[in-house]
Amino acid sequence: MRIGVLISGSGTNLQALIDGTQTADLGAEIVLVISNKDNVEGLRRAERANIPTKVISHKAYPNREDFDRALHNELVYAGVELICLAGFMRILTGEFTAKWKGKLINIHPALLPLFKGTHAQKQALEAGVRISGCTVHFVEEAVDGGHIITQEAVPIELDDTEETLTERIKTAEHKAFPRALEWVAKGKVRIGEDNKLVWKL
Ligand code: GRF
Repeated sequence: MRIGVLISGSGTNLQALIDGTQTADLGAEIVLVISNKDNVEGLRRAERANIPTKVISHKAYPNREDFDRALHNELVYAGVELICLAGFMRILTGEFTAKWKGKLINIHPALLPLFKGTHAQKQALEAGVRISGCTVHFVEEAVDGGHIITQEAVPIELDDTEETLTERIKTAEHKAFPRALEWVAKGKVRIGEDNKLVWKL
């Protein structure tokens, strides 16, 4: 399956997906990486792996709809069949998420449905939970909503800071994201007609 990855930053999750697709048969090939910011490390990671890149700055568009249509057109032009959001820091419109329903997955640094939105690690520390983790899920219009594909838990240590917890969660993310990609790419999990998850194990 042809994969497009959307990023905004360092791209350590992108790297995990690149490594996963290069070292194992995930049924997936990354054919395009799009960043809404130029000069980020994630773009260099893609270039090092000889994956085509594109910068589409949201600032070049008057509204979210137009930006999302530009993204959509590039993804379709590249023949992308499944999109991975790997630290993409823009909220996508309902128009876009509807077009890519069941073909769009995201990684979030908390055990959803807890701690949606930004600063999920800080939210977990402030709530005093002793376990957090990451979630890979299908994307719906509601931010960090959508069916859960897989999760990884990590402990929260008493001396954790936002930074140390973020790093521990990232290690878990790098295992969870390639696994979820493989399941979706190989059709082991999909969204069915009735909007429920269908598992084929
Ligand atoms: C990850 O923590 C991910 O959960 C969140 O954004 C971060 C991206 O990190 N959506 P990286 O760019 O993959 O290193």
